This record gives sequence, C-alpha cells and structure tokens, in this order.
Amino acid sequence: MEVYEKLQRCLESVRAKVDFVPKIAVVLGSGLGDLADRIQQVACVDYSEIEGFPVSTVPGHRGRFVFGYVGQVPVVAMQGRVHYYEGYAIQDVVLPIRLMGLLGAQILLLTNASGSVNFSFSAGDFMLITDQIANFVPSPLIGPNLEQLGERFPDMSAVYDRQLCQLWRETAQELGIPLQEGVYIQLTGPNFETPAEVRMCRALGADAVGMSTACEAIAARHMGMRVCGISCIANLGCGMTDRPLTHIEVNETADRVAPLFQKLVLRGLERLGQLP
Ligand code: HPA
Repeated sequence: MEVYEKLQRCLESVRAKVDFVPKIAVVLGSGLGDLADRIQQVACVDYSEIEGFPVSTVPGHRGRFVFGYVGQVPVVAMQGRVHYYEGYAIQDVVLPIRLMGLLGAQILLLTNASGSVNFSFSAGDFMLITDQIANFVPSPLIGPNLEQLGERFPDMSAVYDRQLCQLWRETAQELGIPLQEGVYIQLTGPNFETPAEVRMCRALGADAVGMSTACEAIAARHMGMRVCGISCIANLGCGMTDRPLTHIEVNETADRVAPLFQKLVLRGLERLGQLP
C-alpha cells in the first residue's frame, strides 16, 4: 500500500476512536515510558488497534498512544516506538510521527537512551540534541515525495528548533538539572557499536549514538513540525570502558535517572505549551 494511503487509513482509524487534538507530540524513549502515567489521560489507543500500524517488538517498549494533558497542554505521547532494526521499512518507522503531525501536533519532542561517544559525558547525563547525523540509515523521504506533507528537498539547516533548544536550557536551569548538548548519530543497530565504530562516530562529530530519533526528526521537519530532542546518556560507548555493553546496563541507567528525566520533560512540556 502506498505510504500516504496507509497513513490516511491509520489517521481515520485513530479519528474513529478519539477526537483529541494535541499541540505537542512526544516520543517516550527507554526509561521514560512511565511518564505516560503523569499525563491527565483522556484516551489511549493501542498500536495494535490501528490497522496497518507498525507494532514494537522490543521488550520494555509498550505500544500505545496516550492522549491527554500535561498541565493545560494537550499532548499525545508515544509509549513505545518502532525501530528500523526491527525490520520495518523506514517509511513505517516514521509513520507514527507523521500520524501525530496529522492529528494536529505542531511540536515534536523526541526522547531516547543513547551511548556517549564524548569522553566528557557520564552515564546518567541528559543531552539536549542540537543537531544530528542520519546518513547511516535510509532517509524516510526516499520514494515518491508526499506532496501533501512537504517538499521534495526539505531544508535541514536547523532540524532542532533554536527557540525550543533555548527553552530546554532554561527549563533545565530552572530545575537545577545539568544538561549536556551535542550531536546525535543514528546507526541501524541492533548490535551495539565496535570500539572502532565508536571512534568513527566521534571523528564524524557526534557526541551520542543511538538507534532511533534522527529519521523521526527528518520526517517531522519534512512536514513542518518544530522538533526538539533530549537524550538520556545510558552508557559510555563501547571501548570507552573495559566492560562489555549490555541492554540491561542501558535499561538500568535509564531507569535510575528516569524520575529526574520525567521531571525535566514534564516541566519542559508545560513551557512548550505556553509558546504561541
Ligand atoms: N549505542 C547505540 N545505541 C544505544 C547505546 C549505545 O551505546 N546505548 C543506548 N542506546
């Protein structure tokens, strides 16, 4: 089925269940899933209820949209995302992002857990994403351009909105939460990087490496959403310590700092909601 047609079907399927119009869309990454419980929920839609929707297969990633309010701000949260390494076409990976845009979200907050390739970061730090490298995964815009959404050759000079980045700096400062900044690089995964690949990421100018987010940001920018992103540095990149890396370690760190991450994100969402 054509990408746009599938998107329209998913939109109709969601609209048949909820008429809520979110201002902000947020993707809850590892460790942040519980934040959905802090939303004044109006409705939930399981991904499995949406015909043709890609369903996540990663343990620890639930699969549903949560609609509701953070303070006065109408939001839609993705509790669980799908990753390219699960085997979905990249256009399917970003379908949920496009769907949230069509549901009305003007701003997208992307969160994730990532590995640091920057020696000045520590596990448990948060990093404001200021730019990205997405060339190791196919662009979600490959194929016939979806003219209804955006142009063929969209500008990527400021994927991460400068005003929104500033808002996150101020939010972190208000809460006394240290916030690193840097460039996120997306690799396909699912294997973690080799030490040589971690050095490559650093040489290319990245600060954190992960397996999501950058392709989502491209799809969102294509359709004109304002994008911001925060990464939870779950571990140092492979080879930067003398221990092998495990998914368990990643989840443990993400869970350990989750309360602080939630606090930052909830306050940031309230502030984002006050933007004109
Ligand atoms: N590499 C890639 N993705 C990740 C990592 C990592 O070290 N940690 C969490 N997600």
